[in-house]
Amino acid sequence: MYLQRRNRILRRSAAIRSLVAETILRPADFIAPLFIDEGENIATEIASMQGYYRRSLDLTVKEVKELWSMGIRSVLLFIKCKDEWKDNTGKEAWNPDGLMQRSIKAIKDAVPEMVVMTDVALDPYSSYGHDGIVKEGEIVNDETVEALVKMSISHARSGADFVAPSDMMDGRIGAIRSGLEENGFTQTGIMSYSAKYASCFYGPFRDALDSAPGFGDKKTYQMDYANRTEAIKETLMDVEEGADIVMVKPAMAYLDIIREIKNTVDVPVSAYHVSGEYAMIKAAAKMGWLDENKAVIESLTSIKRAGADLIATYFAKDAVRLMG
Ligand code: PBG
Repeated sequence: MYLQRRNRILRRSAAIRSLVAETILRPADFIAPLFIDEGENIATEIASMQGYYRRSLDLTVKEVKELWSMGIRSVLLFIKCKDEWKDNTGKEAWNPDGLMQRSIKAIKDAVPEMVVMTDVALDPYSSYGHDGIVKEGEIVNDETVEALVKMSISHARSGADFVAPSDMMDGRIGAIRSGLEENGFTQTGIMSYSAKYASCFYGPFRDALDSAPGFGDKKTYQMDYANRTEAIKETLMDVEEGADIVMVKPAMAYLDIIREIKNTVDVPVSAYHVSGEYAMIKAAAKMGWLDENKAVIESLTSIKRAGADLIATYFAKDAVRLMG
């Protein structure tokens, strides 16, 4: 057989493959999500996220030091709010001495260069488990946005580098940007969950924070997974309103959306490899049906290949270890 081109030449050895690899993961690609709880010296494994923990602040600080030493440059903070502090206004979210605010300060004190991002949405603080304020069974937009602005300013005041609104209310990016400007926080960034879908893959996360919606679902604010054009609309509006980084979430069932957004916007694109995606790999590996390490690297590489500049993932540490 005479062939003019033999593509397998470039796959012949590991060395050649490494020369021509188009996508290479690096530690600074990752954002490590952290679940923080009240108390001291507590690490609780999350039942549906084996190997992942919710930690008290002292142990969280230790963890952040370790992440930094491994080359991970960003953490995304989530806190678990006590039931007695939850209500329909979400006001614990902007308590200057709240767990989130204390966590931001403690982490920035311990590892000042670590890029601290904070989740902005009312669900952990809401007695209804919804991302916004509830009135007559509806999640009201404009009042929620006012609350999110207060929350964002409070995070900025505590030292957050980026606020990360994950609520999908209309107009919140513009309102948060104005709020930050008006209060002199001209160095605080916004990483917007721009195309966040109403997804079953968030299930384990809601276990971690005890934040499942008490009634209904999140489909009146999070996006319908049937839609692609809408993701472009949402993302372009967020960029216009002042988002510094945009996000697609979840990741692996939405690789087409990540590519679409990457081709459309001129800001960095992040993707959130969410709790259910973590749990699926863990569960299959536990059964002996998948090689966990290979599944982790293949998944994260595919998310980067799709166009994600940054990846929020519960596998951040594992991946860095595997990358050697
Ligand atoms: C809160 C929020 C959620 C996640 C991140 N921020 C849950 C939700 O929207 O219900 C999900 C993260 C994950 O599943 O890993 N608004």
